[in-house]
Amino acid sequence: MWEIIPPMATRPTSAGPLPDRIRHRFPIFERLVYVNSCSQGALSDAVRESYAAYLRHWEEKGAPWEYWVERTEAARGAFARLVNADPDEIAVTTSLSAGVSALASGLRWARRSKIVTTDVEFPTVGQIWHAQESRGARVVHARPEELERAIDEDTAVVSVTHVSYRTGERTDVGEVVRVAREHGALVLLDAYQSAGSIPLDVKELGVDFLAAGTVKYLLGSAGLAFFYCRRELWDRAWPTATGWFADEDIFRMDASRYAPSPTARRFQSGTPPIPSIYAGIAGIELMEEIGVEETREHVLHLNAHLVAGLDELGGTVVTPRERERHGALICVRSNDVEELVAALGRWGIVTSERDSNLRISAHAYNSLEDIDLVLEALTRHRHLLA
Ligand SMILES: Cc1ncc(COP(=O)(O)O)c(C=O)c1O
Repeated sequence: MWEIIPPMATRPTSAGPLPDRIRHRFPIFERLVYVNSCSQGALSDAVRESYAAYLRHWEEKGAPWEYWVERTEAARGAFARLVNADPDEIAVTTSLSAGVSALASGLRWARRSKIVTTDVEFPTVGQIWHAQESRGARVVHARPEELERAIDEDTAVVSVTHVSYRTGERTDVGEVVRVAREHGALVLLDAYQSAGSIPLDVKELGVDFLAAGTVKYLLGSAGLAFFYCRRELWDRAWPTATGWFADEDIFRMDASRYAPSPTARRFQSGTPPIPSIYAGIAGIELMEEIGVEETREHVLHLNAHLVAGLDELGGTVVTPRERERHGALICVRSNDVEELVAALGRWGIVTSERDSNLRISAHAYNSLEDIDLVLEALTRHRHLLA
């Protein structure tokens, strides 16, 4: 049975109304303390029902492609609303990698050959850029705070993560954009670890490209992602990683030429991932209903409580503490992180690990009690904290 540590005077004692309002829609909380949204958002009743609807429509109608194409447009619209873009600026892709690969395949490296990226990116991003070395690109990795020194007149693209998947640190995007602009470089933001947990506005951020998927804080499932390309840049890239859903006229069915869409749809590929689109729309709409802004404030409150508790335990919090320097994810150093994740699992607490760090990632549905249970379990396993 759980033994809950009494709240300390210095810790906030109320979680606010958010989890009370929505938690019943996520059945996993009947059994587990789920603080692993950096890996996969919890399954909601709405997303479960969306899969049932997909099967029902398929069974009842056979091949309702008109409706499925309309659903693809609904997904495009939902993500556009989320990031304050125009739907024409969004490509519907099957993964973040697919969108970024389409971009990379369409850029040329003759005039500017350098790609500047950080050392805290998700592997797929680094790998995609390094694949461009065979086409003449050069990749330079830097610490986020050292990017300014790495960006110069030969820099074509600056590719940064919004929130790092393995340290939880949040990039000062405004600063990156400012430096990149000074040198005429384009900026790509990997917003996978922020979409759904931090309000996003591509116009305020000032980025040229942004990619994110629905698996984590957008509460969808694997198989759906989005790629934003600022309107003014649509014809700067001619993707060679392409497919018929990127064509200027999908239903012309013309195999005799390459004529990509004039809009961001040119970054798409083949048949859209219809089942994941049902789930993705349900997830994004649920987050719209819950409210990303309110979620952000709620999770900041939970994380302040978590970090205060970790300090009392003498743990090493790897994630920067300042409000503007982290997202939902808090990383804690461990001397045997696999054992720590397994030990928490035996307490019914779901977390994950990367790079010797325990990852604890709260979302709208988590309560202060969840965080207390995590702290209590960590107290019992103090010897596994570094
Ligand atoms: C920051 C970040 N980028 C990218 C990805 C994955 O991208 P993809 O959709 O290509 O698998 C993840 C997911 O784990 C991530 O955390």
